Amino acid sequence: MARKVIIDTDPGVDDSMAIFFALASPELDVIGLTSIFGNVRTPLATANALRLLEIADRADIPVAQGAHDPLTRLFEGPVPFVHGEDGQGELFLPAPSAQPLAIPAAQFIIEQLRAQPGEVTLAPIGPLTNIALALRLEPRICEWVDEVVLMGGNALVPGNASPAAEANIRNDPEAADLVFGADWPVTMVGLDVTLRVHMRPADIAEYATHGNAMSDHISRILPHYRRYFEANYDARGIFVHDSSAIAYLLQPDLFQTRRWPMRVTTAGIGRGKTLPTTGGQTLPAWSDTRW
Ligand code: BDR
Ligand code: CA
Repeated sequence: MARKVIIDTDPGVDDSMAIFFALASPELDVIGLTSIFGNVRTPLATANALRLLEIADRADIPVAQGAHDPLTRLFEGPVPFVHGEDGQGELFLPAPSAQPLAIPAAQFIIEQLRAQPGEVTLAPIGPLTNIALALRLEPRICEWVDEVVLMGGNALVPGNASPAAEANIRNDPEAADLVFGADWPVTMVGLDVTLRVHMRPADIAEYATHGNAMSDHISRILPHYRRYFEANYDARGIFVHDSSAIAYLLQPDLFQTRRWPMRVTTAGIGRGKTLPTTGGQTLPAWSDTRW
């Protein structure tokens, strides 16, 4: 039976790749998309989620709109230089025909997990505000979830939104600290992984050769994204962030994992840094540490 997944997303070029990757994988049953600010503001993330489902001919999948701002601050703003003003490589697509659900993302997540305990995996590939709000409203989602597999954070490598922090976590560190601290299984597919998942120009060129609506769309939105990476990193091609979390859902044995307690820095120049306890048995766990 296909694994049920809710993707919490800020589409976003690499989010679009991840969503289509999941939709094209028979092992996964995408039961909803929830939108969040990050690469774009939340209303545009919602519209893009609806647009992507229409392109994929999967308008049957519901979209629930998420929070407009992080838990404790206002959203600092989108990143058009990475994903385009429209979050879709500046294609400026027409408005979607469908509407989001009448309930907010956090409520949708709670209702789905409550109705199908043990069956639904959360795959957040944007800032973690919706997941934290759902946890606050209904802590029992920890018991009901199958697993949380997220793209975000940087354990042992530098950040990409600041020298310290990765973009998704940096956008709402308080939310991320709640999500990592909750009593549920979280797998972080962070920059430690995704900066090693590299698509070269020849790989990218393949998207234009498949002749289906999803791969055509990706081939059209990738040039803007690729220009950002080639101008800012010593790279030809792109890093494949969000799809790496989907790849983990499909084939976890491709990945090496470590089991480390995790906290998130919420203040100072390290704001948004994910802090694993890597010191082994002699180091006190975060919960036993005095500050
Ligand atoms: C993450 O930030 C966003 O720009 C990407 O969509 C990805 O989720 C990478 O740091
Ligand atoms: Ca994303």
